[in-house]
This record gives sequence, C-alpha cells and structure tokens, in this order.
Amino acid sequence: MTVSSTPFRALRIDRDAQGVRCSVASLTVDMLSPGDVLIEVHWSAINYKDALAATGAGRIMREFPRIGGIDASGVVAASSDPRFKPGERVLVTGFDFGVAHDGGFAEFARVPGDWLVPLPDGLDLREAMVLGTAGFTVGLGLKRLADVGHDPALGPMLVTGATGGVGSVAVSVLAGLGYEVHALTGKPDQAAYLTGLGASAVVPRPDLTDGVRPLEQARYGGGFDVVGGATLGWLLASTRHWGSVVACGLAAGHDLPTTVMPFILRGVSLLGVTSADCPAAWRHAIWQRLATDWRPRDIQALVAREIDLKDLPDAFDDFIQGRVRGRTLVRVRQ
Ligand SMILES: NC(=O)c1ccc[n+]([C@@H]2O[C@H](COP(=O)([O-])OP(=O)(O)OC[C@H]3O[C@@H](n4cnc5c(N)ncnc54)[C@H](OP(=O)(O)O)[C@@H]3O)[C@@H](O)[C@H]2O)c1
Repeated sequence: MTVSSTPFRALRIDRDAQGVRCSVASLTVDMLSPGDVLIEVHWSAINYKDALAATGAGRIMREFPRIGGIDASGVVAASSDPRFKPGERVLVTGFDFGVAHDGGFAEFARVPGDWLVPLPDGLDLREAMVLGTAGFTVGLGLKRLADVGHDPALGPMLVTGATGGVGSVAVSVLAGLGYEVHALTGKPDQAAYLTGLGASAVVPRPDLTDGVRPLEQARYGGGFDVVGGATLGWLLASTRHWGSVVACGLAAGHDLPTTVMPFILRGVSLLGVTSADCPAAWRHAIWQRLATDWRPRDIQALVAREIDLKDLPDAFDDFIQGRVRGRTLVRVRQ
C-alpha cells in the first residue's frame, strides 16, 4: 500500500440541514487539500477557534467538508519543496489551515511549504503544540509591545481570560520576562493555578453591567486582552499614561465600548494582533524567541489535558462554555 492510499484518522467537519457537525473519519492522503509538503502529524491542540469551527458556534470554516485543527506539529513525510526534507520536524499554525484547507486534527496534513516553520531548537514537537496558536499570539503581542517601546516599569499588565489558552501562556511568558502580571478571571477557584504561572494578583471579572466610564482609575501599565467587549473598554480606560493594550480575542464579544479619552488624555496604545496572517519573517523570528528567551518557565504547567484524536468531538463544548483551563493537547499518533 502506498502512503497516498493508506487510511488514516481525521476529525472531519461537515455541514448539513441540521447544522455543523464533526466526527472522526477514515481518509486517505489523496483526499487531503493540496500542498507541497506532506506531514506526519504527531501533536495538535485545541484553540477557541477550533471549538467555534467544529461546533458551528462561529462561522469559521469556509469550506465543507474539511479536517479541523488550526495547529499541528510533526515530521515531513514527503516534500516537493526543496526547503523541506523527509524526516525534518516542522510546525504549522494559521493561514487557511483548519479553516479552508484540511487542518491538524489528522494523522497526515498536506500544506504549502510557505506555511511551515522548522521546529526551532529548544522546543520538541509536543512543546510546540503546548504553545501553538496561543503561544504564537502571545509572541505577536510581545513584538507589538516592543515595537511601541512599551516600558514594563509603567505598571502591572492585566491579562484577561487568564485561565484560557492564550491567557495562561501570556501570564507565564510575561511573568518570566519580569513583568508584574495581574490575572483577570471568571474562575476565582483557579487562583493557585494563576499564581503558580507567575501572576502576582488575581482579579475577579469587574461588573460592567452599567457600562464603562470614559476614564477609570489608572491601575495598569497595559494588558493583554482575549475577552473583548466591555472588558477591553474597561481595560483601556484603566490604563496609565503611555501604556499599551494588546487586543487579540472576542471571548465575550466583538464590540468595543470606548471613547477617545484613553487615547487623547493618556496616550494609550491599542495594539491588534492576528496570528493567521503575518509576515513570514515575523513568524520565524517569533518562534525562535518562543524557543529561547520567551519560552515559558514551566511549559508543562500550561497543559491541562492531553486527549486522543478520537476524544475530540466531545472536547469542544467546554471551550464554548468557557470551562477550560490552560492548553488541551491532542495526541494525534498512538
Ligand atoms: N487574534 C488572534 O490571532 C487570536 C489568536 C488566538 C486566539 N484568539 C482569540 O482569543 C480568545 C481566547 O482564545 P483561547 O484559545 O485562549 O480560548 P480559551 O482557551 O477557550 O480561553 C478563553 C477564556 O476566556 C475567558 N472567557 C470565556 N468566556 C468569557 C466571557 N463570556 N466573558 C469573559 N471572559 C470569558 C475564560 O477565561 P477566565 O475564566 O479565566 O476568565 C476562558 O477560559 C478567543 O476569542 C480567540 O478567538 C485570537
């Protein structure tokens, strides 16, 4: 049997009259989206976006049926791209992977060589997926903070959605870099987890039902927000002069109630990040740093669960309900 006809397992997402559904299917390599490099996938991980895609809770998938999974790490099995040789260890996150192109919840993936990053020294295949899109997003945020010359001495950085994937990595990496980190969470029972990652204070979600004032007491040097909505508006209004806030998520909504006051009276910067599309040079440089000086101090502490590919269909609801902690790894190969 050739590799192109060998059956393998994959989480296929499809849509019918009842809506979006996912199941583990047996596929063959010749059924995969086209690409120059065939990867034997070893590890993947679940991101909020994967849960939105697999459940149909968000309009993420642009084609059906497709294999889900926006993250993968593995070994090159075959390549017509001269930059990648069989046996080389690689990772892929972002682009159309797991969205309009078959993704990483499968024992094989086939992608354009331009999407691949050689596994940097300092990370193994499993650790690369502990970070995955969550870690890369934190890295992008750090790059944006560095680009505006953000000064850690301005004061504490507030990480919102702190027990989630991006939030947990942000707490760990920022604390490791010497920032004072405050962790905002809806799970006060997870305070020990957050302080273990390096947070020096755990902040309950503020009650913002009466709205956000144009300016609040200036408590924070800035922050890293995955929640969006009123929380992001409140963080902007609570940021000190010349502080910076990285906006990367919408766990609570895509609106942004704010005024120009934080920007024109305190010189606050709002920095966007998008992990799916960024210049290749940034992508490679950020992964190098995640393997070295931006590497979380205790990478294993970020892993909440390790599941098998077959367990995926039952794993997504916890993400939609905001019940997860840290990173959920997917062991793709037995
Ligand atoms: N811009 C990008 O490129 C990029 C990349 C990665 C992720 N994201 C976005 O970032 C967000 C987080 O992604 P993730 O993979 O880290 O997700 P996750 O692991 O599911 O974590 C999300 C966390 O947000 C908090 N949360 C959930 N629902 C909330 C609500 N209604 N109000 C307030 N907080 C809520 C919860 O943390 P607590 O209980 O601790 O508050 C939850 O654990 C998502 O919106 C995702 O789409 C964007």
